Amino acid sequence: MDRWEMPSYEPDLPITEKSNSRTRDMDRAQPEQLVQLLRDCDTEIFQHLWEGGAGYQGLYSDSVVQTIVHVARNVEEILKCPEDSLIVMSGCGTSGRLAYLLATSFNRLLKRLKKQEEAPEDSPHLGALNLEQVCAGKRRILFIGISCGLSAPFVAGQLDFCMDNLNVFTPVLIGFNPVNMARNEPIPGWTPTFRTVTERMLQMQETHRAFIINPAVGPEPLSGSSRMKAGSATKILLETLLWAAHTSALSHTHTTHRDVLNLLRDYEHVHRITYSQSDQIAVLVKQAGSSLKKGRHVYYVGWHTLGVMGIIDASECVPTFGADVGDICGFINEGYAEMGNAEGDLSSLGPEFCIGHKDFVRTTLPNVTESDSVIFLFTLGDDLHAVEDLALCVKQRTLGLYAVIHASGPHSVPDNIKEVFASVMTFTWPSTSEEENSFLRTLQVELATKWVLNAVSTGAHILKGKIYRNYMMDLKVTNSKLFRRAVSLLQMFSGCPEELCHGALIQVIYSTDQPTEEMNTAPLTEHAHTANTSSKVVPTALLMLRWRCSVHEARARLDGHMIIRDAVEACLTA
Ligand code: F6P
Repeated sequence: MDRWEMPSYEPDLPITEKSNSRTRDMDRAQPEQLVQLLRDCDTEIFQHLWEGGAGYQGLYSDSVVQTIVHVARNVEEILKCPEDSLIVMSGCGTSGRLAYLLATSFNRLLKRLKKQEEAPEDSPHLGALNLEQVCAGKRRILFIGISCGLSAPFVAGQLDFCMDNLNVFTPVLIGFNPVNMARNEPIPGWTPTFRTVTERMLQMQETHRAFIINPAVGPEPLSGSSRMKAGSATKILLETLLWAAHTSALSHTHTTHRDVLNLLRDYEHVHRITYSQSDQIAVLVKQAGSSLKKGRHVYYVGWHTLGVMGIIDASECVPTFGADVGDICGFINEGYAEMGNAEGDLSSLGPEFCIGHKDFVRTTLPNVTESDSVIFLFTLGDDLHAVEDLALCVKQRTLGLYAVIHASGPHSVPDNIKEVFASVMTFTWPSTSEEENSFLRTLQVELATKWVLNAVSTGAHILKGKIYRNYMMDLKVTNSKLFRRAVSLLQMFSGCPEELCHGALIQVIYSTDQPTEEMNTAPLTEHAHTANTSSKVVPTALLMLRWRCSVHEARARLDGHMIIRDAVEACLTA
C-alpha cells in the first residue's frame, strides 16, 4: 500500500494537503465502508509513532506533550493574575470557529478568556491590527494562533507582531505540519512568509519565549479538508492545555507531563466510543445522502453547544463542497442568546442567519418534506419536554427524524423520546460527580458529535457525487491557499505544466479565452475575490485542459452532467 508518510509520497505537498492513501476510493464507498474509512483516518490523530521514513512527531511524542506542558504553565500564570492579562485564540475558517466555541465555553467557566473573531485569511496586516486592538491596555498576553496547514497569512501577521512585542506577548502556534512544510509563498505587501515566521518562533522556543505545537495527524480523508482531522486535533489540543492549566491553577499545583498524557488518552477513548456507533452513523450518512441526492435538505437541531457543533458543521459545507447555504443547516435552542457572540442577534442579516429553534419552526419547518432529514442533537440533561414537543411537530412533516443522544451514567433514554424518532444513536458516558468534571465531559461530548456530523456531511456529499476519489474537485477558490490547491489538482489530473493550469484557471475565473495583461498579473487574492462569484471553476478548467477547448465549450460540456464526479470521470477517461 502507498503510505503517505514515506518521503516520496506527494513530496511537494505538506501533510495537511496530501491525499490520504486509505481513502483513495472513498467516492465509491457505501455508507458503512465510508464510516470505517473515516474511523481509520481519525485513528491517525492518536498515532504514537509514525513508521515511515520522515520521522514526524505525533500527538503523544515527548516533545509535543512537553510543549503543551510549557504552554499550560503559561496559562496557569495568567489565570493566577487575570486583571491585566489575557489569552487570545485566533484562526481562520474552522480553526477560528473552534477557538470561538472554546473561548465562550471556558469563559463561562473562568469568566476570563477572550475571543478573537474570524477574519479574511490572506491579510497579515489585518491580523496584526486586530490583535493590537483586542489587546490594548493588557500587560501580559498569551496568543494562540491556529493555522492547521501552517499557512494563513492572517495568523502569520499576528505571530510576527507578538514576536516584535515579547515584553507583552507569548506567541503559541498550533498546526499540523512540520516547520519545513510551512507555507513559503511570498505574501503580497509583506516581507516574511509563514515559514520564516515559524522558523523565527522555533529559535525563540529554545528560550521558552514562543511555542509551536505541531504534531502530524496525517492527511485528511478528503484531501485538504482541515475541518476534519486537523479541526478535531485543534479542539483536543486547546482543551487539553486549557483544562490542564485550569485544574492546576485551582489546586495550586503545576501541569505535568502525566496530566497532559491522561487527558489525551481520554480523548482517544472518546474516539473509540464514537466509532462504536459506526452502524448508526452509517444510517445517518445514508439518509442525509439520500436527502441531498433528491435536492432536499439536512437539518441539525441541537441544544446548547451541540447546537453550535451543528451550526459549525453546516456552515463548513458551503466552502468545502460548494453547497448552497440551505443544503445543510444548523439550529440552536435559544439562537443568539445561546451563542454569546459580541454582536448579538444577527437574524436580520438574512435567512441563513436565523439559527434559533423558533426560526426553524417559523420559517423552515413549514417547507420540510418527507425527503428531508432532521437530526436532533441533545443530552439527557437538556429539556426533554422541549425536545419531545419539537420532535412531534417535525414528525408531522417528515419521518426522516433522527436523534444523536448523549446519556450519562445509569440514565437511559425514556421510551417516549425514543419512539418519536426513526432511529436513535445513544452514547452512554460514565457518570461524573463534580461540576468541573461534567464540564470536561461536555467538551468530549462535543467532539463525539463533531465526528458524527463530519461523517454525515462529508458522507452525504460523497453520496451526492461531489467528490472524485478523495478530492473535492469543485472547491471554491476563495483565497490564495485554495487557488494553489486548485492549480495543484489541475496539474495532477490534466498532466499539464503548472503555467498552463494557472492560465486555464485565470481564463475560467474571468470567463474569457483571452485574459488581459491586468488579469494575468493581478495578485492571487484578486483572482480569489473574483472566483467567489464563479461556479465549477476547477472542473471547467480541467475540461479545457483535457479537451483543449474554450471556456464556453467546457462549460457546455459540463452542463451535460448533473454529477461532478461523473463529469470528471468522463473527462479523464475520454
Ligand atoms: O479557507 C479555507 C480553509 O481551508 C478552511 O477550510 C479552513 O478552516 C481555513 O482555511 C483555515 O485553514 P488553516 O487552519 O490551515 O489556516
